[in-house]
Amino acid sequence: MAKKVRITETVLRDANQSLMATRLPYADFEDILETMDKAGYYSVECWGGATFDSCLRYLGEDPWERLRKIREHMPNTKLQMLLRGQNLLGYKHYHDDVVEKFVELAIKNGIDIIRIFDALNDFRNIETALKAVKTYSKKYNRHVIASGCISYTQSPVHTVEKYVEMCLKLKEMGFETICLKDMAGTMSPFEAEGLIKGIKRELPDMPIILHTHCTTGMAYMTIAKAVESGVDVVDCATSAFSNGTSQPATETLFYALQQYGIESGLDEAVINKVNDFFKPVKQKYIDSGRISPKSMGTDSRALVYKVPGGMLSNMIANLTDMGAMDKFDAALKEIPEVRKDLGYPPLVTPMSQMVGNQAVTNVIVGERYKTISNEVKAYFHGEYGVAPAPVSSELQEKILGAGGKPVDCRIEDSKRTGEDFRKAKEELGDLARSEEDVMSYICYPKQAKDFFEKRKAKEENIATYTIEAM
Ligand code: CO
Repeated sequence: MAKKVRITETVLRDANQSLMATRLPYADFEDILETMDKAGYYSVECWGGATFDSCLRYLGEDPWERLRKIREHMPNTKLQMLLRGQNLLGYKHYHDDVVEKFVELAIKNGIDIIRIFDALNDFRNIETALKAVKTYSKKYNRHVIASGCISYTQSPVHTVEKYVEMCLKLKEMGFETICLKDMAGTMSPFEAEGLIKGIKRELPDMPIILHTHCTTGMAYMTIAKAVESGVDVVDCATSAFSNGTSQPATETLFYALQQYGIESGLDEAVINKVNDFFKPVKQKYIDSGRISPKSMGTDSRALVYKVPGGMLSNMIANLTDMGAMDKFDAALKEIPEVRKDLGYPPLVTPMSQMVGNQAVTNVIVGERYKTISNEVKAYFHGEYGVAPAPVSSELQEKILGAGGKPVDCRIEDSKRTGEDFRKAKEELGDLARSEEDVMSYICYPKQAKDFFEKRKAKEENIATYTIEAM
């Protein structure tokens, strides 16, 4: 058992994303940032994931500006972000030069820890981002931590040995810490024990971080076992924004760790103050309907059916729309079969929807793969990366033709062209004010352009108003 277990606070990013679709405006938490800075967290996860898109699309905020302001109010806390490797914050492969620039700007604007993952655990997709962290960490004279992240899933090929092998690979690549990311909240206490002990046996000095969700109600038990097995950091959210589809509660963990005699480094008075601050914020969004009671409850179906809760809801909605709920059991049985044919991808977005929809199609049509979705075709063409295990050769032949081979998107789609910036700048003209603006546009062209246009109109209005007032 570790002497010290530290906590990453996720209220600004994952808790915000899981409970209220990332709609928390900066103004709602600005006043607590200086207090949070004194809490003694390992880090505060505050950026990446959906925050970037949500800022531009719904909140009318510049995501880079948000990051700089958080940095300014929290000078002593490590600020953390989540990055989807070569996909940055989305689902398409960007060119290497774009990935490098994104990482540079994230570091320049204040990020201290970049947690990098690939949905298929194809680690070639996180290599460019890792190297960029090292390069720009040096350039800006800061120690920025690259955290290698494993998308956790259960399947016949995802054994402890396989996960240990992945960890060895991440260490060899140069990652400083390793995060086990259990996005569906299905990691059981005993799986956590097996995994963490297995990893610690091979890599005793590698800090291990556990990221899970309370969705299925398992998280607290899983964390207890993880703590007993030597985990170093656990992701939590302040009580008001914990549980349900979010992380376990920071304050609860604090008291439990005290009972274990394990130091967390947290300041009890400060974390309770943080929680008190967020209580009315949460209430406001419950009242407005933004936080739904559904996301706050426990949904154990994922444990029963071995698929994430979100995927199941999606499937039920589809079947209900088609008036075919009588096919529910058949579709559930079809899921592991489709997943096997696809080489056991982790069931995260976008793979969860892909597998779920194809399973539904197979049972509705009454013949397997008579109709194949465009997503599954793209997957077999190699557009999502390399599958964790060999795919069905029969299905591959059906999609790619006899002897057809998937394209290696890591090689094909990531070649640097130097064109993305030039083109983006040209398209934006005077709407872009900075390199950060250009990057926002490369990541989310429509949302960014709309945001820049509104920003410009607002400034012109203010200018007109000022002249009239004089
Ligand atoms: Co998460």
